[in-house]
Amino acid sequence: MSPPDTTTLRQTLLDWYDAHARTLPWRAARGAVKRTDPYRVWLSEVMLQQTTVPHATPYFERFIARWPTVNDLAAVEDGDLMAAWAGLGYYARARNLKACARAVAGDHGGVFPDTEAGLLALPGVGAYTAAAVAAIAFDRPANVVDGNVERVVSRLFAVQTPLPAARPELKRLAGTLVADDRPGDWAQALMDLGSTVCRPKSPLCLMCPVSGFCAARAEGQPDLYPIKAAKAARPHRQGIAWVLRDGLGRVALVRRPDKGLLGGMVGLPTGDWREGEPDATPPVAADWVDAGAVEHVFTHFSLTLGVRVAQGSGDFLWTSEAEALSALPTVFAKALIRACG
Ligand code: ADE
Repeated sequence: MSPPDTTTLRQTLLDWYDAHARTLPWRAARGAVKRTDPYRVWLSEVMLQQTTVPHATPYFERFIARWPTVNDLAAVEDGDLMAAWAGLGYYARARNLKACARAVAGDHGGVFPDTEAGLLALPGVGAYTAAAVAAIAFDRPANVVDGNVERVVSRLFAVQTPLPAARPELKRLAGTLVADDRPGDWAQALMDLGSTVCRPKSPLCLMCPVSGFCAARAEGQPDLYPIKAAKAARPHRQGIAWVLRDGLGRVALVRRPDKGLLGGMVGLPTGDWREGEPDATPPVAADWVDAGAVEHVFTHFSLTLGVRVAQGSGDFLWTSEAEALSALPTVFAKALIRACG
């Protein structure tokens, strides 16, 4: 795209954003004089890296109600934080969240650095989050590229290189559209366009303010973009979750090791998850009854988790079923629900 085109494209999309921006709890009210609170922006961006806006929104509201400032979050107990994060996935992020909150509270007097480089120096803050917070909270001309932006850019420029190899090229092209005028709104306009109009399947090109600039649309098949490399099949693993009850309405949980999958979260007792025969060693001897199985898909493998149920005792974190359901990561919550059925 030539520079005059870029200027018109930017203005057209910013005008569209002024009319159609989604109202989201971490955004400043329209026409507000005060800029968005960097704590809210940072928290929302970390949550939104692994899930959708509708799924993240209630988590965001609960976090802000419970820990209204970064200093409050810095003082949180690990167990409370992990329980509040349960269901959002990628649990290492929750631990990074606390490390970052502590650094802002402890080393920066509770005030977020206001540059991309300063943000990037915080523990647990990667290139995406630093750029997003710099742009949205501080109106810095940072190049904010998430999956939505990659898709929009791949279509605007009809990028032929398949993902993931195309990432550097997409980032460079996205950078050609960034300017000093309203960079925070620009980043969010691209995100909103990507999630509401330039959707992965069935993009709504008839409603798109910038369809006239779109090379993929001109070719006639925008949904072919972004072109993706053929995926290796996800391996399948099997395991068993052991639902031990004590007769007082409580269920036995364990704290998972800090390192590894679902690290630091509470879980049901379970052995190794492996390809082939599952590890069927129960945590304690009891009259175990087969309650079926649940399926769960992780980023790097899919899992069939058999569920066995018994009454018994032992050295566990004994937790009411209601509390367990809210604190457990989704895969174990599914298994516990299965045990109730
Ligand atoms: N996805 C990630 N960050 C977002 C934001 N700030 N607004 C809308 N969608 C997003």
